[in-house]
This record gives sequence, C-alpha cells and structure tokens, in this order.
Amino acid sequence: MNASGPRCTSYDELKVIAKSASAAIVTKSCTIESREGNPEPRYQNLPLGSIQSMGLPNLGYQAYLAMVPELKALGKPVIVSISGFSIEDNIEMVSAFQNSDVDLIEVNFSCPNIPGKAQVAYDFEQTDRALAALCQLGDKPIGIKLAPYFDMSHFVAMANIIKQYPVKFITCINSIGNTLVIDPHSERPIIKPKGGFGGLCGDYIKPVGLANVRAFRELLGDDVQIIGVGGIKSGTDAFEYLLAGADAVQIATCFEKEGPECFSRIENELKAFMKAKGYNKLTDAKGKLKPL
Ligand code: DHB
Repeated sequence: MNASGPRCTSYDELKVIAKSASAAIVTKSCTIESREGNPEPRYQNLPLGSIQSMGLPNLGYQAYLAMVPELKALGKPVIVSISGFSIEDNIEMVSAFQNSDVDLIEVNFSCPNIPGKAQVAYDFEQTDRALAALCQLGDKPIGIKLAPYFDMSHFVAMANIIKQYPVKFITCINSIGNTLVIDPHSERPIIKPKGGFGGLCGDYIKPVGLANVRAFRELLGDDVQIIGVGGIKSGTDAFEYLLAGADAVQIATCFEKEGPECFSRIENELKAFMKAKGYNKLTDAKGKLKPL
C-alpha cells in the first residue's frame, strides 16, 4: 500500500491510489486544522531517495472524516493517518475516526518537520501516556507510526511500552529526521524549512527500516502486526522486509517519483521472485530471515 506522505492529501489523489494496485488507501497525516505546510522548496529528489520537510500540509481532519464514505465506496480498506500536536489533539481525532467507517487508524508519533515540536516516538514517557489515552477510545484497531531507532535499548524500551496496550500494528519507519543535504555550488541547503534540516527517505534508509522491523518482530513476537516502510522500490526490497518480519509494506518515495504504476510493478516483481524461489504465499517467507 502507499505510505502516508506523498500524493495522498486530496480526494483526487486518494482516488488515484484506489484505482492502483495499492492494497489500501492511506491518507496524509492530518491535524486539527488544515495546514499549508512549510515554505518551498520543501521536497527535493536525491540520487538514492529524497529529503523533505513538508510541515504537514493537509486538509484538516474533518475534511478526511467527511471523505470517509466516498473513500470507502472506492472499494479498498481505508487507513487514516493522524498527527496531532498534543495528546488532546490526538484524542479528538482518534475519537472522531473511531466513530467513522475507516478500517485502521495510524497515529503518527514521528513527524520530524514541525519547528519546535519533538517527535513523540523519541519521548518514551509521552508515548506511554499517549497510548494509555488513545487505546481506550473505541474498538477500531489502532497502530502507531514510529521513528527509526538506532540503539538496542531504545527498541527494548519502545517494545515494552507497546506490549502494555492493545496496539494492533506498528508502522516502521518514518523518515530519518533532521538530516542535511548541502549544495556545494550554491553553498546552501537544498530545502528551505528549518535551515535545511529534513527527513531523509528512500534507498538511503532501507537498512535502517529493515533493522527496525527485524528488532520489533523479535521483541514483540507475533502479537503485533508490522508494516514495513523505508526504501522499497522493487519486489526484492519488499521480500527483504518480509524476511525481516513485516506483515505488509508501504511505499513512499518510489510512489512519489514513479507514480501509481509502482504498486502493480512491485507486486508483480515480488510474485515472480517468490515463485522462482518456490514460495506460494507470503507466510512461507514472513520472518524467516536465516542466520548466516
Ligand atoms: C510530515 C513528515 C513526516 O515524516 C510525517 O510523519 C508527517 C508529516 C510532513 O512534513 O508533512
């Protein structure tokens, strides 16, 4: 499926996703009020991915709430992404979508691009408090979009928090936040917001995404579904995430660069690769990374 982020803000964009081979329709992370986002340029392609600091441009959650019946009518599971600036914001939005027809709610704890706002996923106490509040608002499955972690103690700390709540899925990883790309000719950063600091996406981050999926699969067992995301642009990339333990995968930068044809291409490549290996279904390979 698509990842929350590229090409999923307007109804027209979401309709294109519905018509593609994406397994679900995932919306751009929404906030209480609509937002224009950060000043341009705020997205740049890089040879092996992209850097972006969009700043949460979105229509405001009530627009997505009103869109749910039309989106559902397009025939695919609808996953709404919410990204409040406080626990109170997230309570308001999760409550609203609990009373809607969406299939899943992905609470984004890892937006790195709002000046002055820390990523919730790097604040373990706040994550704990937020989950305590958000997991009791209804029966619809909720999951969380996590930031990338780089230390085993952080994987363990986050997994221990997740285990205390009925979190149905985690999505790992968001972009690697606050990276800097410099143009040596102009002697300037290549994006404008935050002095050029932005989230790094695409091929660069695939090994980080794979490690995060693997670490959480080992720590959480099979109780929590894992959506893998980060640098998937081919069937073999998706297969690697499957081996690491992903139940599903999301595509962001490749979708931004290639457009909606990427979903059928990647699916067909994955099918062909697995068939050549003699695997018939995803579960033949899921989590089955072999020791060296
Ligand atoms: C934005 C970026 C993110 O990585 C995210 O999770 C949510 C929003 C943004 O800048 O719009």
